[in-house]
Amino acid sequence: CVADFFTYETTKSVVVKSWTVGVINRVVQLLIISYFIGKVVRHGTVLSKSWVFLHEKAYQVRDTSIESSVVTKVKGFGKYTNRVMDTADYVTPPQGTSVFVIITKQIVTENQVQGFCPESEAKYSCVSDSDCQRGEALPSAGILTGRCVNYSRSLRTCEIQGWCPAEVDTVQAPIMLEAENFTLFIKNSIRFPLFDFEKGNLLPNLTAQDIRTCRFHPVTQPFCPILRLGDIVHFAGQDFAKLASTGGILGIKIGWVCDLDRSWDQCVPSYAFTRLDSVSEKNSVSPGYNFRYARYYRRENGTEYRTLMKAFGIRFDVLVYGNAGKFNIIPTLINTVAAFTSVGVGTVLCDIILLNFLKGAEQYKAKKFEEVSHPESPSAQKSLLPHVLLGALPPP
Ligand SMILES: *[C@@H]1O[C@H](CO)[C@@H](O)[C@H](O)[C@H]1NC(C)=O
Repeated sequence: CVADFFTYETTKSVVVKSWTVGVINRVVQLLIISYFIGKVVRHGTVLSKSWVFLHEKAYQVRDTSIESSVVTKVKGFGKYTNRVMDTADYVTPPQGTSVFVIITKQIVTENQVQGFCPESEAKYSCVSDSDCQRGEALPSAGILTGRCVNYSRSLRTCEIQGWCPAEVDTVQAPIMLEAENFTLFIKNSIRFPLFDFEKGNLLPNLTAQDIRTCRFHPVTQPFCPILRLGDIVHFAGQDFAKLASTGGILGIKIGWVCDLDRSWDQCVPSYAFTRLDSVSEKNSVSPGYNFRYARYYRRENGTEYRTLMKAFGIRFDVLVYGNAGKFNIIPTLINTVAAFTSVGVGTVLCDIILLNFLKGAEQYKAKKFEEVSHPESPSAQKSLLPHVLLGALPPP
């Protein structure tokens, strides 16, 4: 047992003259080498084109921390409840940020003042004061006072303290359909800090005339920075009238995937569109997207009043992502060394075939694994040692 442990293994090469395993060996080696060539060499050779690994560009360092700024501007006029709406009316926030909402539908409650009034929702209907738990805060118009009061001739509801009269948001409101023809202008600047590379989505070959009149189209106008809202909704696979009615969130993705070994011109943005809140689309309790906001006024006698708006709209999120790669000697060396090392992997496969599946496998096994004892042992001296040292001589 102890003697078995204190042994040393050394490598001995056995040359096998077999066509089968010889061909397998060379084919495996060729595959491994071409995989790494495909990885290291750029586009061009017929062989490497068929390898997806080409796109890994193992000879490059990559910068994935893209820095970006986005400015947006919406243009167009809409008509809503006998008023002409301009950008200041329907875009919020107005600063031209990368996330903004275009309000397409509003439920307006005018002249609200602080006071006491009956709840508007049917689920707060009551018969007597005992039905209205005093002080219970509700997710609706205000705080319950504990009294049951007349809402209309036939209906009694719990009284609230808060902004009165309470909002009724179950009414049908119209949609500003003109929003389909509004245009969105996106100005995006990016930088890859590792390579100090800067670029913007207003490419230099766009003339001032183009920028005013073009409309984005993925095939014919892929670099036009002006997008029609109806087109964005369509590219995201949505129906405009439905989305404008329930509200929703759309993503405008701008991708910058650049190979900086090529010329500056070839680093260009690509636009993609998607609906980001597709889960809420299928949700029946809270479909779409809406929010409330208010405008506050003061009468001449000093009392404050407000106009409450429940707004439904399409929120646009402009998302910028990207990475850039450039030739660098270190990843090139690492991958080249890995390539040479990996060529040895082929011998494992060939050994398995040689020692298990080939005719005469027992013979190969005997030649490959040979035990050599210490030369002082007389029997080993005679039989094994000369054979190992002078392998070329014929046996005695
Ligand atoms: C959008 O513009 C087109 C052409 O200018 C016009 O035919 C269409 O009626 C407009 N759509 C809406 C909803 O106003």
